[in-house]
Parts: sequence; C-alpha cells; structure tokens
Amino acid sequence: MCGIVGGVGNIPFRRYLIDGLKKLEYRGYDSSGMAYFEHGELVLKKVAGRVSSLEAVLPPEIEASAGIAHTRWATHGQPNATNAHPHRSNKGYFTIVHNGVIENFRSIQHQLLARGFSFETDTDTEIIANVLERFYLRSASVIEALYQTSQLLEGSFACAILFKNEPDRLYFMKRSSPLLIGKGNGASFLSSDPAPMIGYADAFADLNDGDYGYLTSDEIVVHNNGQKTEVHFAERDLEYYQNDLLGYPHYMLKEIEESPSVLLRLIDNYYDGERFLFNDALIQAIHKTKKIHFLACGTSYHASKLGAKYFRPLGKEVLVSIASEWAYDPYDVSEDTLFILLSQSGETADLIRCQKIINSRGATNVAVTNRKGSTIERKATFSALLYAGLEVAVASTKSYVAQVCFLALLAAAIRGETDAVLEIDGLVHSMKDILSRKEEIKALAEECASFENAFFVGRGYDYLASLEGALKLKEVAYVHAEAYPGGELKHGPIALVEPSTLILGLVSDPFTSAATRNNFEEIRARKGHLIVFSSSGVSSNGDSFIVSDVKPYLAPCALVLAIQLFVYYVALAKGLPIDKPRNLAKSVTVE
Ligand code: M6R
Repeated sequence: MCGIVGGVGNIPFRRYLIDGLKKLEYRGYDSSGMAYFEHGELVLKKVAGRVSSLEAVLPPEIEASAGIAHTRWATHGQPNATNAHPHRSNKGYFTIVHNGVIENFRSIQHQLLARGFSFETDTDTEIIANVLERFYLRSASVIEALYQTSQLLEGSFACAILFKNEPDRLYFMKRSSPLLIGKGNGASFLSSDPAPMIGYADAFADLNDGDYGYLTSDEIVVHNNGQKTEVHFAERDLEYYQNDLLGYPHYMLKEIEESPSVLLRLIDNYYDGERFLFNDALIQAIHKTKKIHFLACGTSYHASKLGAKYFRPLGKEVLVSIASEWAYDPYDVSEDTLFILLSQSGETADLIRCQKIINSRGATNVAVTNRKGSTIERKATFSALLYAGLEVAVASTKSYVAQVCFLALLAAAIRGETDAVLEIDGLVHSMKDILSRKEEIKALAEECASFENAFFVGRGYDYLASLEGALKLKEVAYVHAEAYPGGELKHGPIALVEPSTLILGLVSDPFTSAATRNNFEEIRARKGHLIVFSSSGVSSNGDSFIVSDVKPYLAPCALVLAIQLFVYYVALAKGLPIDKPRNLAKSVTVE
C-alpha cells in the first residue's frame, strides 16, 4: 500500500510534503520518510511511526529544489526506520519512494548480490533503486534506465525518484499502483491521489500503466514503451478531498453521524421525485443478464451480501464472492453474467485484480464506488457513485449504509417500484433517532469495554448485520469477535459461551425473530453476557437498545449504525487510536 508525494520547483517543501503525507496516511501509517535536494545536497530523513514523528525531526525550514516523501504500510520488512522509504542505491545515484509490491524481488536481489550489490533493508524497494543504478551505469541515460527497470520488474509500482546529478528533476515510473501528476505555477507535483496537490497544482493527470518520465519546474515529460507520449490533464472532483473534523474528536464519529445526510444525498442523485435516474443502459444490462455476481472485500463484501438478497427476487441467479478468493478461481466469466464490483475506495488491489480478469474476458462489470476517477471506477463498463463524501477513518461506516441503500434503490429500479425511496426515508428517521440517543449506547459500551471475546448472533438479515458488527469490533476495538447465524451456535460455538463471553444479539426480522429469541435463551442458560439490539416491532423487555421500526430489509443499516457507535465508544473507553487502528490502512492497495 503506502502513499507517495513529490514535487520540484518553487514549493514550500516542508509544508507541502508533510501535509501531503498526512493526507495520504489512509494508505498506511507505520513509518515515514522524506528526501530532498537542498543546495544540491541530498538530505534523507526516516522514522518509524506516524508522519507526526517525521515532522518532529525536520528542520523548521527546507529550501529544496526537489523532494519526495512516503508513508508506509509494511509489506516486506518490519516497520522500522531502516525499512522506511526513501531507499538509496549502493552508489547513491538514485533515491526512491515506492508504492506497490515487486513480486520477483528475491530473484532480482540474488542477481544483484552476485554482481556485488549489497542491501541494508528487508524491502523490495531497495532492489528498484539498485536496478536503476545498474542500468544507468550501463546506458548513462536515466530515461533508458527507467524503461529497462520497468521491463524487468514484475508486480506493481508507483515510484518517485531523485537522481544525484539532477537536483532540479523528479523522475517517476508507474504500473498498477496509482500515480498522478500536477502542474502548478513554477512547480510540478506528483502523488498517489490528488489531495496533497490541492492548493498547489492547477491541473491534474492520471499516469497510465507503463508510463515513466520526469518533471521539472516547468516541464512534464512522459514516455511509454520507449516512446514519448501525450499527457491528458483532466478536471478532478477536488471537493471530495476536502477533509475537516468540524469539531468532532474523531473522523469515525463524524462519519457515522453523516449517515442520514449521505442517504438523503443518495436519493437526490438517483431519484427525481417521480422516477429513478440510473443510467438506462445499466438498467437494460441488468434486465438482460441471467446472473449477477458481486465481488468485494471487507465491509463492501458484507454490503454485497445484502445486495444479493435484494436482487434474488428479480429471478436472477445471484452470487457473492470475496474478491481475493475469486481471483484465484475466476469461474463464471461469460456473456450471461454481469459483475457488480463494490468498493468504497475504488482502489482495492484484490478487486482490481478481479476487474482485470473480467475485462480481459470482455464481460460486463458495474463499479459501485465512492470515488470518481478511481481505478475501478475508470475501468468498468458502467460506473455508479455512492456520493458519500470523503471517508477518512479506516473503518467504513457511512459508506456501508450508502452501499446497502444504493443496491436497494437499484433493485427497486429494476422492479420498477419506487417504495424503496420512502422506506429509505424511514430509515433516515430511525438513524436520526439512534444518533440522538448515542449517550445510551456509550453507557452500554463502557460496561462492555473489558470483554476480550465476543459473538454477534442473528438470523437472516440480522446475521448479515452481525458480520459487519464483528468486523467493526475487531478492527477498531481490538476485540476478537465472530458472527454466527443463530442456528449455528448449537453446532459448535456455544461451547465457548461463559460469563466472560460478550454476545451481541441482533433481532429485527419478524420472519426469524422467534427462533433467534430461543437462541438468546440458550445463551442465558449458559450465563453468556448477552446484550440485545432489536427493532421496535420485535423488541422484548430487557433488550439493551431498541431502534425504531424500519423495513426488515433495511434494518441491518439501522442496527449496524447503532453497533458502529457501540464499537466507537468501546474503542474510546480503551483509549485506542480510533481513526487509524494498528496494522491497517484505509485503502488496501496490495493483494
Ligand atoms: O475500499 P473498499 O470498499 O474496496 O475496501 C474494502 C475493505 O478493505 C474495507 O471495507 C475494510 O474492510 C474496512 N476497513 C472495514 O471497515
């Protein structure tokens, strides 16, 4: 994963590079570093930990001609200062930052060792710097070295590169990992996404796979496959990248609280008061297809499981697969299948891999993402946006409810019925009520903050909400949590139920509620610590938190919102880094 940022020309480097890295911390935040040319000399700073630790070791002013910086999510080698980027080649010709994974780095490393190169780090990136050096020393051309290096490397890379003899130039090369360039006044920029360049660059261009070249203060030169190539500057939705806590202590809380307005904006974008506004060609494609196959990861996978329930009654065969698994066994790619790729970021590597397979076989795919211009959005047959606004916290919250309700609206459009709009409006009211009672949830969470193990138990729709609840409790509050369908408890997991086991029971679906309530009795009989989240139509005395009635198919959104708050307050009580949990990143750009 990782985020990279660079610039050349007349730039306030300290501010630009540090602020830029902070905006890219969603891509990883276990170590960071920076390199720049100051009065012709290369300066290198690297630290373990967040960008704020890097900031602390920098001088108050940096008068540089060019600079690069990196925030890391470790793939090869521990997250310490040695393995932090930038990395230098043996003779110091090249200093580079890299986002991606070099799959053949071990074999290249062996070849380089045999030629007398040595390595200081455990990273795959250090070999890129040295391969560049080797090719440069043979050809005396950096451009030629970039070309030959990119031919040799297998895997993904977006690299920003400083070359010892040209302190006024910034080189780059890219395959698979995202990289953009920006043009400013007397300066040029590059970054993993536009956010660091906002306020500095006036125009942005996405680089293509295979691009390499250089930037100076007033020149942008891009090559691809040995030839110079044109750069196409395009407009970006910069508003999306504005982020501000607006007085909230954490992005997670802010983003949970945005959920009702996210749903109203979703309705505005896809319904004009009389009819749905989905792309006609997309609607026709769904009508025509025999099979719908959802592919996604994490929270987006859980939202897809709900979406599958909405599309099955349309008489289609509907499948849902975890992207990283399907990519190893890509069955079912035919004219009869339409793929729906659900991804908040639109940059998830596991899903990009699936999309490449689907596109290479000419099958139709619909990208449902929250980011216009993201890789998955750009490469899809059809694209639809969630309009949920920037989500900064690593935990997906508002984007989950947007994904679920988007799929509910799309299924309704296929059925030609508009009831879903009013039903989502009802959900918005229920959510506002939940948010107004967040102190109740906080008290409940504080009581439960010391549990180390938890089960979520529900049936049908409530089981699908349980899956998402368990993921949230694990990733944000570090509680080992698993979701079980109520009926499965007696097939094994009930052996783990004892007073120290927290069980979050979910019950909102009238169709399954009686059976779920029986499971709760089984849990109580074994003295498990049960707290129940229910919806008013099926609530019972003693339930811990009751949400106002919504349609059963939308109830997971209301229950999940309450659980998101519960998880937030457990993590708060435990003093955890809520927006940036350990070992994670917002955008998972490695497979
Ligand atoms: O951007 P995507 O929706 O493709 O991301 C998928 C998962 O990485 C993501 O949902 C992850 O599970 C979240 N951290 C969950 O809160």
